[in-house]
Amino acid sequence: MSAELVEPPTVLVGAPGAGKTTVGALLAERLGLTFRDVDAVIVERTGKSIAEIFTDDGEPAFRVLEEQITAELLPLPGVLSVGGGAVLSAATRAALRSHRVIWLQVGLAQSVKRVGLDTARPLLLGNVRGQLLKLLNERAALYREVATEVIDTDHATPAEIVEMIMKAHVAQR
Ligand code: S3P
Repeated sequence: MSAELVEPPTVLVGAPGAGKTTVGALLAERLGLTFRDVDAVIVERTGKSIAEIFTDDGEPAFRVLEEQITAELLPLPGVLSVGGGAVLSAATRAALRSHRVIWLQVGLAQSVKRVGLDTARPLLLGNVRGQLLKLLNERAALYREVATEVIDTDHATPAEIVEMIMKAHVAQR
């Protein structure tokens, strides 16, 4: 039987700059599973960048779309990265309860470094450091609420983070 049929879906959550997309793709490759990324599916479906959706339609419209697409992708097997703000939705937090949810934790300094100061992320425009600090503070409790595992990514490369996830995976069996 293929791994996709027996493994429960694994979901990566965390703030911008946590490495959800990079680590998610590597982890899926390592496990031989399909990788999906909610933001990428939103861009594909709408034909717009995330920044354009925020500018043209506003953040509330983006959140509705994000909640719908996350709900659609969560039942599928494989590895799924959700946007940093997906946990703001109570419906999404409830839907995450039946999943393996890995919180990729990142501190302010690393998050600023990884995201870069000229980010295309609409929520961070203007004052990347200040906005990230606000997001990290506001969301830490929500990431903690949904997480079944927490991985500190500050001093690790994406490949090392995948190793940590694999070890936790084996230890759970
Ligand atoms: C957001 C994070 C982004 C993207 C959107 C909103 C957020 O995804 O979904 O810009 O609210 O934190 P990443 O976490 O991949 O940057």
